[in-house]
Amino acid sequence: MSDALTFIEDNRERFREELYDFLRIPSISAKSEYDAETRRSAEWLAARMQEAGLEVEVIATEGHPVVLGEWRGAGADAPTVLIYGHYDVQPPEPLELWDSPPFEPTERDGRIYARGSADDKGQLYMHVKALEAHLATSGSLPINVVLLAEGEEEVGSPNLVPFVDAHAERLACDVVVISDTGMFAEGLPSLLFSLRGLAYFEIHVSGARSDLHSGEYGGSVLNPGNALAQIIASLHDEQGRIAIPGFYDDVVAWDTETREQIAALPHSDDKFREELGVPALVGEQGFSTLERLWIRPTCDVNGMLCGYTEEGAKTVLPNHAMAKVSFRLVPDQTDAKVKELLEAHLQNVTPEGVTLQLIELHGGRPWKARVEGPYFEAAAEALEEAFGTKPVLMGGGGSIPIVVEFEERLDAPALLLGFSLPGCNLHAPNEWLSVENFEKGIGALARLYGKLGTRAGA
Ligand code: BES
Ligand code: MN
Ligand code: MN
Repeated sequence: MSDALTFIEDNRERFREELYDFLRIPSISAKSEYDAETRRSAEWLAARMQEAGLEVEVIATEGHPVVLGEWRGAGADAPTVLIYGHYDVQPPEPLELWDSPPFEPTERDGRIYARGSADDKGQLYMHVKALEAHLATSGSLPINVVLLAEGEEEVGSPNLVPFVDAHAERLACDVVVISDTGMFAEGLPSLLFSLRGLAYFEIHVSGARSDLHSGEYGGSVLNPGNALAQIIASLHDEQGRIAIPGFYDDVVAWDTETREQIAALPHSDDKFREELGVPALVGEQGFSTLERLWIRPTCDVNGMLCGYTEEGAKTVLPNHAMAKVSFRLVPDQTDAKVKELLEAHLQNVTPEGVTLQLIELHGGRPWKARVEGPYFEAAAEALEEAFGTKPVLMGGGGSIPIVVEFEERLDAPALLLGFSLPGCNLHAPNEWLSVENFEKGIGALARLYGKLGTRAGA
C-alpha cells in the first residue's frame, strides 16, 4: 500500500499532464457535431485504462460508447468493485464568460480550469490513476475491479439501463464506487447520504394560427405568454411549497439523526447568500438551506421562450410560448408519478383559449444511501487517512439517475465520495478542480481499494 502512495507522489506531474490531455478533448455529449470528439475521448480513456493494467473494451450503444475496464486477478473470494464515472461533459457556453478557453486546461491558484475538470473527467481519472498505482507497484489489487465510464450522463443516460441489463453478469459486484459529486468544504472530505432525482419537462402553450398584431387583436384572444406565466405561477404556493396536488405524498420525512448532522455542518446562510450574490435566500418554509438543497424537492423554470426578445419594441401577440421546467425529487418520489400529477394539475390550471402540450425530456429517481456497513466504513477511513480529517456526511442536491438503478439491478450498495469543491462552477463557465484534491483524492481512492479487499460483504 505504501508503495502505491509513493508512486502517486512520484507521478503527480505526469498524472496532471495526462488529465490535461483528457480535458482537451471536447466530449460534449449533447451536441452531435461533437460525436467524433466524444468517441475520441472514449478511446483516449480506454488506452489509458489499458496502460494502467485493465482489460478494456469500448462498447457501442445506440448513443455514445461505454468504456468498460476489468481486472479480475483478486479471485472469486475477493470483493468485486464497480467503479462508475462519465467522460462526457456539458456544453461550455457562454464562451465569453470563460477566463481561459474551456478545452485548454489552465492552472491558476492551485486550480485546474477546464470543462469537465470536476464533472467528471478529473474525478473519473483519479480512479484510473489509483488503480494504476496499485498495479504498477505490486502488480495486483486486493479487489476485482470493473470500471464503467459512460458518455451520456449529461444527457440523461438514455442507453445505460439497457446496457446494465444486457451486461448484468459482467457488472455483477459487491459495491459500486462513484466520484461525481463534491466535498462539503475545502479540507473536509465527504460521503453522500443522498442524491435527488429529476423530472424534466417542456411545457408548450399555443394560441392563434400565427403571431398577431397586439393592437388589432389584443383583448380578444388569450396570449400564450400570459397563459404560460399563469401556469408557472400555479406551481408554487405562498409558503414556497409546490402546489401540485399530491406532490408531497411520496416525500419521506428524514430521520432526526440525519437532520441533526445536517444542522451541525459548518454552514453560514449569510456567507452562502453573499457568495451567490442574491439579496435573500428563499425556499420552502420550515426547512434550513441545506435541507432545502438535499432533502426537499424543488420545481424550477430552466428556460423560457416566447415572443419578441430582440432590440426595441414590437407590438405582437406571440402564438406560442414554451418553458423548460424541472423538478428535483427526493425519496420516495418517482419521475413517472410526478409526470402524472403534473399532467393532471396542468389540465386543471390551463386557462380557456390556449392549448397545452407536455413533453418529458428525462427523468431519474432519487437515491438514499445506507450510511453504515463495512464498505462505508472503509471509505470513511480512507478519506480520513488521505485528508487528515474525519469525513462528514452530506446530501447531494444534483442527480445521478443511474445510481439507484445500479443498486437495484446489481444488488450492491453505492458509495459516493466526490472531490469537487463548493463554487467549482459545475456546468458553468470557469469550471475548476483543486490540484490538491486531485492528488489527495487519488491517494484516498488507492487507500479505499486497499481496504475494500479485506472487508467482507455488506
Ligand atoms: N455530477 C453531476 C451530479 C451532481 C452534481 C450530483 C453535484 C450532486 C452534486 C452530474 O453530472 C449531473 O450534472 N447530473 C445532472 C442530471 C442529468 C440527468 C443531466 C443534474 O444533476 O442536473
Ligand atoms: Mn457528473
Ligand atoms: Mn454534470
